[in-house]
Amino acid sequence: MTIPATNVAVEVASESFVPDFTNQRLLRNALGCYGTGVTIVTAATESGPAAITVNSFASVSLTPPLVLWSLDRHGSRFETFSQAEHYSIHVLNTDQQSLCMEVARDPQRLAHATLATSPYGVPVLDECAVRLDCSREAVHEAGDHLIIVGRVLLATQYDHVQPLAFCRGKTGTFAFDQSDAA
Ligand SMILES: Cc1cc2nc3c(=O)[nH]c(=O)nc-3n(C[C@H](O)[C@H](O)[C@H](O)COP(=O)(O)O)c2cc1C
Repeated sequence: MTIPATNVAVEVASESFVPDFTNQRLLRNALGCYGTGVTIVTAATESGPAAITVNSFASVSLTPPLVLWSLDRHGSRFETFSQAEHYSIHVLNTDQQSLCMEVARDPQRLAHATLATSPYGVPVLDECAVRLDCSREAVHEAGDHLIIVGRVLLATQYDHVQPLAFCRGKTGTFAFDQSDAA
């Protein structure tokens, strides 16, 4: 396969592809090789707690404390989360594997749950690895997603839990090389 660049022709491997609307599955699979943690983001709505499973979460800045995640424009939860002034990001632990998938499948999964409330009025899970209570700092258009930048107002870290891992469409645990331990 030859891809013409500006003024040179670059040879690329036969497994290479130019992403377009006909091969979105290939791009999804390629991006899925990037292992991440998994989070559940919650927000308050008039009809109860809203929640969405998210692995696009990333840290952005320490000063000020900023994080980001991206929200699918085509999902049924777009309206709620694109408007939310406050929301909480829960980095999940390995005991929350089923909850992670249930929330992804069912927008109403936590709608009738009795949850505690953060100091900012957001319904929150009573366990996770880390919880970040955020205010909406900025949003940026990005193709079929909206990048949501949050300011971390309060961070809560839970001890003695293993963060949940996500890679190639599967959840699991992180395997650390003990020889690298400090
Ligand atoms: C592991 C995992 C990670 C996900 N990450 C994101 C994400 O970063 N952003 C997003 O908008 N949806 C993400 N989703 C999909 C949503 O959780 C949800 O399933 C999807 O928006 C469909 O929602 P709907 O039924 O409300 O339309 C993820 C799903 C899974 C299982």
